[in-house]
Amino acid sequence: MELYAAMTTTPTTRFYRPDPVPSEVLHRILDAARHAPSGGNRQGWRVVVVTDAALRRKLRDLYLPPWREYVERLVARAGGRRSRSLERSDEFAEHLHDVPVHLVVCVDVGALTITDDELGRPSIVGGASIYPFVQNILLGCRNEGLGAAITTMLCRREPEVKDLLAIPPEYAMACLLAVGYADEDRRPSKISRRDVSEIAFRDTFDGGPFEA
Ligand SMILES: Cc1cc2nc3c(=O)[nH]c(=O)nc-3n(C[C@H](O)[C@H](O)[C@H](O)COP(=O)(O)O)c2cc1C
Repeated sequence: MELYAAMTTTPTTRFYRPDPVPSEVLHRILDAARHAPSGGNRQGWRVVVVTDAALRRKLRDLYLPPWREYVERLVARAGGRRSRSLERSDEFAEHLHDVPVHLVVCVDVGALTITDDELGRPSIVGGASIYPFVQNILLGCRNEGLGAAITTMLCRREPEVKDLLAIPPEYAMACLLAVGYADEDRRPSKISRRDVSEIAFRDTFDGGPFEA
C-alpha cells in the first residue's frame, strides 16, 4: 500500500470480524515494525501476542472497570450526553475479547531515554522510545488489510496484566493493540483531524501558519 494512503486511512477500528489472523501476517508486521527508532537504539520493546480466548477475556475483564469509570466522568462532563463515537468505543470495550488478537506492547523502563524528567511536568520523551514502534504496527496492519485499535486504558491495571501474562518486573505496559479484520460495514469512512495550518507554524509558534 502506498505510504501516504496508509497514513491517511488508518482509523481506530472498533468492529471486527471473528476470522483469525494468520501468524505469518502478524510476524511480517512485527518484522517491519521493529525498524522503528528508539532513544540510543535500545529497542526496549517487547510484544506479547495474545490469541488465547481465555486470556483475551481476562484482559477484557480488566479493561472494563477503568473504561467504565472513564465513560462515567466523560458523560458527567458532557451533561449526560453520550456521543456516537463514545457509543462505538463502549461497544468495542464490551466486545474486546472477541477481537482475535491482542498485542500487549511493553517496554523495558531501563531502556527509555528520558531527557525531560526534571522540568516539573509529566515526561513526554520516555514514550518516544516505544510509540514509534506502535505506530509502525498500526501502519503494518493497514498494509496487510487488518484493522487495529491502540488502547491505553488497560495500563491502569498494569500489575494485573503483568501477572496474567508473566511480564517481568522491569517492563512497563505501553498499550494493548486490538488487531483483526475489520467489519467493513462499520468501518469509519473518514478520519477527522486538524488542518496543517492549525498545527504547524513558520519559524516561531506565533509566526503564523506554515504553508506550502
Ligand atoms: C495514546 C492513545 C491511547 C488510546 N487509548 C484508547 C483506549 O484506551 N480505548 C479506546 O477505545 N481508544 C483509545 N484510543 C483511540 C482514540 O480514542 C482514537 O485514536 C481517537 O478517538 C481518534 O479516532 P480515530 O483514530 O478513529 O480517528 C487511544 C489512542 C491513543 C493515540
